[in-house]
Amino acid sequence: MKKSLTNIKKAQKILDMSECVAIPTETVYGLAGNAYSDNACKKIFKLKKRPRQNPLIVHYYDTKLLKRDCKFNNNFNKLFKNFCPGPITFVLNLRKGSKISKFVTNNKKSLAVRFPKHSITRNLLKRLEYPLAAPSANLFSKVSAVCSTDIIEDFGKKIKYILNGGKSSIGLESTIIDLRNKPQILRLGGLEISKIQKILKRKIQLKTNPTIKSFPGQSKLHYSPGIPIRLNATKVKNNEAYILIKKAMKQKKNYFYISKNGNLKDAAKNLYSTFRKIKKKKYKSIAVIKIPNYGLGKTINDRLIRASKY
Ligand code: TXA
Ligand code: MG
Repeated sequence: MKKSLTNIKKAQKILDMSECVAIPTETVYGLAGNAYSDNACKKIFKLKKRPRQNPLIVHYYDTKLLKRDCKFNNNFNKLFKNFCPGPITFVLNLRKGSKISKFVTNNKKSLAVRFPKHSITRNLLKRLEYPLAAPSANLFSKVSAVCSTDIIEDFGKKIKYILNGGKSSIGLESTIIDLRNKPQILRLGGLEISKIQKILKRKIQLKTNPTIKSFPGQSKLHYSPGIPIRLNATKVKNNEAYILIKKAMKQKKNYFYISKNGNLKDAAKNLYSTFRKIKKKKYKSIAVIKIPNYGLGKTINDRLIRASKY
């Protein structure tokens, strides 16, 4: 704990100078900067090679600072109470007097906000006088990072500091819900929709479509390991990597299981790191067995469909 406090203080010092730091969250790692600083936010876009039009999620410790930046409503209060801190991002109306950098929102009037659960990042956020803008800590259009070595793989030494928090426990990005009008899901994620519907006592529309642009994470190459992926594969070629949802009776060299026994939480946690592992082993293509389409399986399938558009 003492060591992690030293590291948190180091991260704080760098962030205070409007530099970027990679931070651990329970979903995926973030590439963070002071959300009130134009300079820090510009650096995030530059490091990630991310188009400026694509707005950033802002991470808060609690609602104290957020009150100054956004307008809350009943649906927000209910979901905050039940799921925060946790893997859910809310799109809210930005307040006029907010200090959020215009680079975060691309000059728009809405703001995506999240309260990450990872204890190291919570400790960091608590110490700061500003919230942290942080997209996933990967190069634009690549697979998100779930541990510090993933970040080094993408950025080398370009990021001033990586606050190490071990492997992300969920392994897929947060669920994004637009709460400005009738609630709408903009991105499937680490929090299952059924749980959200239970709290809001209504069916929530999914405004996400892996084949349509202009929704979060829509670029064709999004979540791509950079090689072709075939879905629902029942057979595999010899030179192809085969992703399985459970360990095969007869494991072969090109078989990669993302959970031992079909557990969807484990599968979510291991998906991105398995993509990276396969890429490192120089396979030229991936076949993926059918993944059950319920609970977190829906999010896994969403990412697989996007990744297969490569
Ligand atoms: O789990 C996560 O959400 C991770 C961790 C680091 O918090 N962050 C993350 O950020 O996945 P990013 O930037 O990779 O994806 C955020 C998505 C983007 O596709 C962006 O277009 C969308 O959120 N977004 C951001 N602000 C928005 C807004 N105001 N309205 C609609 N979509 C927004
Ligand atoms: Mg991302």
